[in-house]
Amino acid sequence: MQKAPITKYKPFPPVSLPNRQWPSRSITQAPTWCSVDLRDGNQALITPMSIQSSLEMFDLLVATGFKEIEVGFPSANDIYFNFLRQLIEENRIPDDVTIQVLVQAREHLIRRTFESLEGAKQAIVHLYNSTNPLQRRVTFGKSKKEITAIAIDGTKLVKELVPSIPDTKIHFQYSPESFSDTELEYSLEVCEAVMDIWQPTAQEPIILNLPATVELATPNIHADQIEWFCTHMKNRDMAIISLHTHNDRGTGMAATELGLLAGADRVEGTLFGNGERTGNVDIVTAALNLYSQGIDPQLDFSNLNQIREVYERCTRMTVHERHPYAGELVFTAFSGSHQDAIKKGMDQMDPSEGALWQVPYLAIDPNDLGRNYKAIIRINNQSGKGGVAYIMEHEFGFEMPKKMHPEFSRVVNEIADKTGIEITAAEIYNIFKAEYIDPKKPLELETFRTKNLSTGEIECWATVKIQNESTQLNGTGNGPIDAFVNALHKEYPCDFELVSYSEHSLGSGANSQAVSYIQISNSENSTWYGAGIHTNIEIASIKALLSALNRFQK
Ligand code: KIV
Ligand code: ZN
Repeated sequence: MQKAPITKYKPFPPVSLPNRQWPSRSITQAPTWCSVDLRDGNQALITPMSIQSSLEMFDLLVATGFKEIEVGFPSANDIYFNFLRQLIEENRIPDDVTIQVLVQAREHLIRRTFESLEGAKQAIVHLYNSTNPLQRRVTFGKSKKEITAIAIDGTKLVKELVPSIPDTKIHFQYSPESFSDTELEYSLEVCEAVMDIWQPTAQEPIILNLPATVELATPNIHADQIEWFCTHMKNRDMAIISLHTHNDRGTGMAATELGLLAGADRVEGTLFGNGERTGNVDIVTAALNLYSQGIDPQLDFSNLNQIREVYERCTRMTVHERHPYAGELVFTAFSGSHQDAIKKGMDQMDPSEGALWQVPYLAIDPNDLGRNYKAIIRINNQSGKGGVAYIMEHEFGFEMPKKMHPEFSRVVNEIADKTGIEITAAEIYNIFKAEYIDPKKPLELETFRTKNLSTGEIECWATVKIQNESTQLNGTGNGPIDAFVNALHKEYPCDFELVSYSEHSLGSGANSQAVSYIQISNSENSTWYGAGIHTNIEIASIKALLSALNRFQK
């Protein structure tokens, strides 16, 4: 990198717009979305999509709800051309979907584009040429006047060719490519020259697409450019203003949102932001950002995992784990305090349909996107007690008493500390079993039965293996646990007291099991929990007591 003073780069000049309105506006409705996956996205792939993958992607875009889809650059190569012919000839384009085709403002390409469209019900012909000073000088060596003439001549030819495919309703879109880097007055001059030729009306407007072909400035400057354009143009009602942002500075999404505030009506972009260099704006994120504000995005992402799967297969690109809404890890909390807060939020959520979503750390309900709550909390040595308890409850149905949470989570954390890696839900369950359910030393219950006595007391008979030796126990008490404790003390004296007891069923139905949790303490007030599972609740509680004793004597 150059050392200061940095002369190699210079600040992007601000737009003079003293009365700018966009900062105090809000977005209140979804724009018209146009997917450019099959064109801008496709042209940026290491291996461009085959016709088969393009068809699958097209179907996916239709199913997601896109009504405008740029299907390629049919004059550029045979694959694009043949793909479009297949879409048309096999009647694959729904009546409410308008395909869009890109074409440079060059005569033979425009003629070939019209050939490709024969038989389509409707289409947007998207004409473009570069207008920015750098390209005018370096790439084309042309004056402003000559560049304007390219746009005008291209528009004239498109207009002339419309009657050549009379069964196709043609809409027209013009892009001053590199609008982001073109003098605003000049962009407007070219676009108005194009409008003068095309003669749009309020009923049949032109689409003026104002691309940030390369993102060169902060998003507020993009917004100023769009607002400047919208407020300075003639016949604003005869044009649909379209955004097309790229993400060179990593702010394509912000630029798009501010561009909508600044007056744009339409957004071109791609699924997950695929596109040249750093990509186009990601329409999934743009739409779900609206959804998270209570605005109908007009696109359906209720099965986002499947959309991601088709996208990854067709494009051979991957969606990053941290990608908004779609990434593998975006609904996963690793931090213990986050996990506790999420658990509290979930527990306190109003369960009625349509209730306001209010869960800390989760901007939107993963379930709305077909993503699973089960993936929300994963455990590592940073996790808190809430996370472990959450997994045990939501994955396996164990509602451990609150005071047991820190004890069990300590056990889990010790293991996580040793392994240093994340612990899965299944591993947590196995740790629970190994700690509370499986140990049989020194005490293991073999049989247990009780009888109600006329005194109101309970008498119990039990067989317990004590250090591998079956021992018969008998005792009475004011309940089955009390009777068992009295019986046990006779054969196996040990210093403990019952502190708390709770139980609940695991699942429903005649064969469902119950789980009991028992907490005991010794004379020094140290406490241990135990847990027992059985179809008979009395036996579950005796097992829980033995589980606590086995842990106490470990
Ligand atoms: O980024 C761009 O400018 C484009 C145009 C062709 C619209 O993709
Ligand atoms: Zn682009």
